[in-house]
Amino acid sequence: MATTAPLRSPRPLGDTRRWAAPGSKSADLFARAQGVMPGGNTRTTVYMAPYPPYAASGEGCWVTDVEGDRRLDCLNNYTALIHGHAHPAIVEAATRRLALGASFPLPTPEEIELAALLCERLPSAERVRFTNSGSEAVMMAVKGARAFTGRPKIAKFEGAYHGSYDYVEVSLGSTPENWGSLAAPASIEYSRGTPPAVLEDVVVLPFNHAEHAVARIEREARHLAAVVVDPVPNRIGLMPARRDFLQALREVTDRLGIVLIFDEVISFRVGYHGAQGAFGVTPDMTTLGKIIGGGFPVGAVVGRADVMSVFDPTGGHPRAPHGGTFNANPVTMAAGLAGMRLLTGDAYARLDETGAKLRASLAACFEHAGVRGGVTGMGSLFRLHGTDREVTDYRSAHAAPDEAARLQRIVRGLLEHGVLMSITGLGCLSTPMGDAELESLVETFAAVLAMEGGQTLTS
Ligand SMILES: Cc1ncc(COP(=O)(O)O)c(C=O)c1O
Repeated sequence: MATTAPLRSPRPLGDTRRWAAPGSKSADLFARAQGVMPGGNTRTTVYMAPYPPYAASGEGCWVTDVEGDRRLDCLNNYTALIHGHAHPAIVEAATRRLALGASFPLPTPEEIELAALLCERLPSAERVRFTNSGSEAVMMAVKGARAFTGRPKIAKFEGAYHGSYDYVEVSLGSTPENWGSLAAPASIEYSRGTPPAVLEDVVVLPFNHAEHAVARIEREARHLAAVVVDPVPNRIGLMPARRDFLQALREVTDRLGIVLIFDEVISFRVGYHGAQGAFGVTPDMTTLGKIIGGGFPVGAVVGRADVMSVFDPTGGHPRAPHGGTFNANPVTMAAGLAGMRLLTGDAYARLDETGAKLRASLAACFEHAGVRGGVTGMGSLFRLHGTDREVTDYRSAHAAPDEAARLQRIVRGLLEHGVLMSITGLGCLSTPMGDAELESLVETFAAVLAMEGGQTLTS
């Protein structure tokens, strides 16, 4: 992949276990954190037992922890940092803007620039509203769809993650014991104490099963404001949606006057025109986050002008009022613009090509090591599984205890040997990654699998 940021010459990935030793700096920090945060943690996603290494700095595709150990960053803050860490153009844009003031109770020109870029790239984007996170973007899209249709319920897919808004958390963690039938999956609380009314107002659908999903949408249509779908849903197994499945959702929502929302908080990574461009299906609204903020907190709801008019304050009280102290703050906007401008069609093409090669190499490693496992993904995204069965939906992706344990050992092995990935097996590429880094990644992966297969890992 072409190098867009200065890279240190790659080092072989080695032993990065110092954080785990008793008395390490990370151990001390975690002990201190436990006195001031529940479980020493302020972001559930980044917790790992018994405690995580603490980050000190990042440069390009490398992250250095507080012990001084360096890892290849294959997670990029959960896919947000598509140009890796501290890209000079993004640092320059953000610091230049920061020196002029961080936020104002007035709009700034930068928000128009980034909104215009999104309108130019995303087929569904005629108007844009910025938020500070993907969760807020999804919340506002749902509220916007309710305001547009005057209907209370939403439909979402079993196992799909859309952030922490009550309604979209429903059935995020369904299990074989409680998930119900495939035709009509049960609405299961994720956070204890979720009001029953929330569960009643969320219709849960099976991902990649067009017939069941359409039938359920038709049955619930007169109460449904929106169908929310992530076209490349990480928590469902990072299996891309079938195109005909997305087309079926488009057809039924069009026919029944339901707002189709694509959650592209992650999947904007898969194409210059988003997943919607790649699949050739245009939703009414799209939620964004992560890569559009250049590494700063961000989110956005974009959509068709008539739907987005629910947020328009010019005629008086909008149908869906939307505040937010830091919405479209100019530092995020400037950093986001710099990052998105670097993300040219060529940059996407290189990421796609490298992603496809990497997924094939990792799958070959599983086969070669004789370890049961698999790799899914699209574009610059990949996900490891502790099973070799075909993953097509939430239920087939759902890991049995031995599969989950295998994946956990593999990811832990990678963490201990110079590779940072999600504990759930999610990984992604960044533009500063070159061939040497990716070769080291595959070599390290093969070595970790050899260890899983019973051989000794030398580093
Ligand atoms: C598909 C999807 N939607 C929404 C969100 C929520 O975004 P944020 O973490 O910025 O609130 C995420 C976060 O990972 C996501 O993956």
